[in-house]
Amino acid sequence: MSIHVAKWRSPSNIALVKYWGKHANQIPANPSLSFTLNECYTETEVTFSPKQSSSEFDFEVLLDGKLEESFKPKIEKFFKTIVHKAGFLKEYHISIKTHNSFPHSSGIASSASGMSALALCLLTLKSRLEEKEQTNFLQKASEWARLGSGSASRSVYGGLVQWGESANSPSSNDQYATPFQGEVHEVFKTFKDYVLLVEVGSKSVSSTAGHGLMNNHPFAKKRFEQAHKNLAKLESILESGNLEAFGNLVESEALTLHAMMMTSQPYFILMKPNTVKIIDLVWQFRKETNTPLYFTLDAGANVHLLFPASAENEVKTFVESELKGYLRDGRYIKDSVGEGAIELK
Ligand code: DP6
Repeated sequence: MSIHVAKWRSPSNIALVKYWGKHANQIPANPSLSFTLNECYTETEVTFSPKQSSSEFDFEVLLDGKLEESFKPKIEKFFKTIVHKAGFLKEYHISIKTHNSFPHSSGIASSASGMSALALCLLTLKSRLEEKEQTNFLQKASEWARLGSGSASRSVYGGLVQWGESANSPSSNDQYATPFQGEVHEVFKTFKDYVLLVEVGSKSVSSTAGHGLMNNHPFAKKRFEQAHKNLAKLESILESGNLEAFGNLVESEALTLHAMMMTSQPYFILMKPNTVKIIDLVWQFRKETNTPLYFTLDAGANVHLLFPASAENEVKTFVESELKGYLRDGRYIKDSVGEGAIELK
């Protein structure tokens, strides 16, 4: 039995219209749309070698060269969901070596970049073992990534990416993400995202648990309807380049996401005092300077600053002079819209 290796780099992404709530089999309760990032990525190398134990899945996960037991349950669950299409998972010893470009426990979700990198590696290995190219490779990789983590489905493509069925776009799909099909104004093609690290370490409530709390949530139905409407609105904003309307929509999406958390049962708060302080300073700065600077949040305390490339100098000065003091060790990542996953040789 020979040894097979595949290696991919897959980026993280930041949702503008948020996925929050899902049905069985990782089917999203509403469509979402994200920017793929560039600097925040995971590199994963998967090696298949002769099986060493009789366990169903004989695998190990190494983060920066060290065994990482905490990653195993989510990966094992993922293997179980795809094994009917990937029987080879039971036949090999699988070594998963992974590295994140962003600082360890920075609070940046690694599941989108991590699961998409893993899905891409496994699909590449499937092609090698079967000695045939996969048709619709990226579509299949996105589908596998979704089964590992919903947001990971969007990370295989660059630019603006949509996942989940929506009325306006015939190619949209619950099973896999697709590159956004609408017209996109130039300003959004080089958009910036500075990721401000407010809180390091793991979150008190995982995204997966948070999604679960949308079942029987008193406001779920309205929220899912709103996401559909916001997606339709965002489609025309992306075409027109109306930054004010863009900012209004993405900030509202971010705060609605956190409002859903605060009104879940049990309720929880992932924002920290410095998250709110930064939001307040962003609003103040925008009012005083008219700079088109907006924020969004993922399921955590960190703040993503979104702005056009033309505003970068002003924003840099603002972050350095006004916001740095509210960040963990003054740390932030200067990111921007990226090109999507790439295979590494
Ligand atoms: C708030 O994709 O991490 O970032 O499917 O359970 O792995 P699982 O959840 P995950 O949820 C991401 C939630 C979000 C919004 C988004 O990325 O759309």
